[in-house]
Amino acid sequence: MDLHLGLDGPGDLATRIHRQLLDAILDGRLRPGERLPPTRELARRLDVSRNTVSVAYERLTAEGLLVARVGSGTFVGAAPVGSPRAVRDGDAARPRPLWDVPPGPRTVEPETPLYDFGVGTPDPELFPLPVWRRLLTAEWRAATIRTAGYRDAAGHHGLREAVARSIGRSRSVRATAADVLVTHGAQQALDLVGRVLIDPGDVVAVEDPGYPPARHLFHSLGARVVSVPVDREGLDVNALPGGARLVYVTPSHQFPLGTPMSLARRAALLDWAGRHDAVIVEDDYDSEFRFSDRPLDPLHSLDRAGRVVYVGTFSKTLLPLLRVGFLIAPASLRPALHAVKRLTDWHGDPVTQAALARFIDSGELPRHVRKATRTYAARHELITEALAGDLAEWLDPVPSTAGLHVCAVLRPDAPADIPAVVTEARRLGVAVEDLASYCHETPRPGIVLGYGAIPTDRVPAGLARLTRSFRAVTKR
Ligand SMILES: Cc1ncc(COP(=O)(O)O)c(C=O)c1O
Repeated sequence: MDLHLGLDGPGDLATRIHRQLLDAILDGRLRPGERLPPTRELARRLDVSRNTVSVAYERLTAEGLLVARVGSGTFVGAAPVGSPRAVRDGDAARPRPLWDVPPGPRTVEPETPLYDFGVGTPDPELFPLPVWRRLLTAEWRAATIRTAGYRDAAGHHGLREAVARSIGRSRSVRATAADVLVTHGAQQALDLVGRVLIDPGDVVAVEDPGYPPARHLFHSLGARVVSVPVDREGLDVNALPGGARLVYVTPSHQFPLGTPMSLARRAALLDWAGRHDAVIVEDDYDSEFRFSDRPLDPLHSLDRAGRVVYVGTFSKTLLPLLRVGFLIAPASLRPALHAVKRLTDWHGDPVTQAALARFIDSGELPRHVRKATRTYAARHELITEALAGDLAEWLDPVPSTAGLHVCAVLRPDAPADIPAVVTEARRLGVAVEDLASYCHETPRPGIVLGYGAIPTDRVPAGLARLTRSFRAVTKR
């Protein structure tokens, strides 16, 4: 047993050992059925007489918390009653005000709705588990044979090469392995960029509606976060605040509206960043799934002035639980980004990164993306048809031809209470998201429908129930 017992505190030695064991049993560090060390062994470890330990054990046995079994030892009783020792609230350590948030709800797994149009998750059924398992096992074997030790903070070299090649082909982003820094998803990429660029009080411009985790992250780093409206061409460059140090955008597939940023806007944004000495963070989080037309070049490929940090992730193409993403930054920012990565995290998980490198190099990634795109395209089409059919009475779809979600705004001539529709849909087993939850300053009535999590054959029934929800709410 590796339980630490201190001998400080009031009372004789037996009382102190009794108190320590009692606490450990009541707060669950010692679990029912667990065997305690023999009195002789514990006495030697604590440098006390065996009799002292026996007295403590006997007291706990008399209290029903320990059970002595002849010939096999002393065990924690079956179901000790009690609760963890309470710490007086006012005495406990507190975080700084920014993080002094009320405790969240207990982490109970939410009930999975029957028709889950939740946003942000790819289909776990599509994940190529047998291939991944094989690659991961091989890499674990290799990693434990090679010298174990700390690695390059920029990430596994093979993965950086594979990422550079892969996005060169699929997204026309020109980069070499030296340009790529591997991160724990897009979120860590945003954190690193923020740490390197933002001083407290600096202005960071984000899209509205937009991606709340990015807004919250920049705020947590001390930035003054300013919302900039988005229209059908993307972020309104004319509305950018003059002193912005950083502009965060999702130009390939605006989150959550789904529209691509027009070429004219891309040029205007790059020009603006050059004139205002600002950095653009281009979050290209799910554009690998494309259903028609050629995508526009990323801002990174159009950038001639070293103003764009390109951020990518494998959370959508594979799974969010892998926690692998990357950033490609101008050479001028690279030493700082590497230094921050080393300081805050070092190199992430090199085994997962090595397996992913092989997954990309062997052609599995493009194969998987092609297959998944066919599945997602079918779901996208079913939703688009319903939006043009039954749901057209209330909703106007926002055109989008990529990614894992679509957005539809409420028609001005067909008012419906969207929160009430979302609640009614939930009652019917359908999860959809309220567009307002992504709006900061300018609330827009509408809904966002993800199709990563819902099996294709459930989409029509789910949409039929959503239509029923609209009908029920408008009739009230
Ligand atoms: C706009 C946007 N960026 C990035 C991500 C992915 O983040 P991560 O790579 O940290 O999982 C998401 C996921 O929902 C997203 O919606």
